[in-house]
Amino acid sequence: MIECRGVFKAFGGVVANNDISVDVPEGRITGLIGPNGSGKTTLFKSIVGHHRIVSGSIRFAGRDISKLRVQQTARLGVLRTFQKTRIYGRMNCIDNMLISVRHRKATVADMFRSYPAVVTERAEKLLEFTDLSSQRKLIAGDLSFGQQKLLEFAMALMNEPRVLLLDEPTAGINPTLINGLIDRLKRAASVFGVTLFIIEHNMPVIMNLADNVYCLASGRVLAHGTPQEIQNDERVIKAYLGGHYAVGENR
Ligand SMILES: Nc1ncnc2c1ncn2[C@@H]1O[C@H](COP(=O)(O)OP(=O)(O)OP(=O)(O)O)[C@@H](O)[C@H]1O
Ligand SMILES: [Mg+2]
Repeated sequence: MIECRGVFKAFGGVVANNDISVDVPEGRITGLIGPNGSGKTTLFKSIVGHHRIVSGSIRFAGRDISKLRVQQTARLGVLRTFQKTRIYGRMNCIDNMLISVRHRKATVADMFRSYPAVVTERAEKLLEFTDLSSQRKLIAGDLSFGQQKLLEFAMALMNEPRVLLLDEPTAGINPTLINGLIDRLKRAASVFGVTLFIIEHNMPVIMNLADNVYCLASGRVLAHGTPQEIQNDERVIKAYLGGHYAVGENR
């Protein structure tokens, strides 16, 4: 569904993405791991059109999207969530959901607009899906951090993404809540038919979630394979997993 070929992106002298080729198959969950600064978030930004890549190509459903901007890729159904959660902290949950429909273009006037029933129904349904129904009238800034992550995920689903790029969805979430989030992500993939591409530092999570995993190091693809292959790959262990995930533990 997403095909990156030879993607190259540099910031001044820093090469953040160097000849990256990645396939994200439709209906599957693909993981992206790698040390801090290895180029994961940059690749997400390259895909959604946050910045123009220097060379290479990015296709979505067979169509070249390399030169499209964020609003254009969003319209096609390619969306991402952010490493730092972005919600409207002073608005309640249901209003966050409503305003997030194409929310990059939302204006204050939107808050006073009446939304079509189909939109409010979808918002309620997604809040239920993420277990936030009873918080629907709560100010989003008062939710726990984990609930804010769930709200952000629900907000992204409002726009009916075909592909959702999630940048560290479980970061900072209490381990006891992580399983609930994993369950939601898996169900989103099956119930809503969303293809997921997920950056994670939490190895047991990505090993549990993903059908296949890419590992970046220094801006390049170091390895690609099933979770099993990746966690046993000597190069990955050396470059990354050693510090994060002792093989044999926590499987
Ligand atoms: N806007 C920018 N301007 C300059 N350098 C940047 C910019 N964005 C990223 N970089 C650099 O590109 C490299 C890759 O950064 P990126 O954010 O993609 O890493 P990451 O793999 O997401 O790391 P982390 O796991 O810490 O989130 C880093 O060296 C970073 O400093
Ligand atoms: Mg990052």
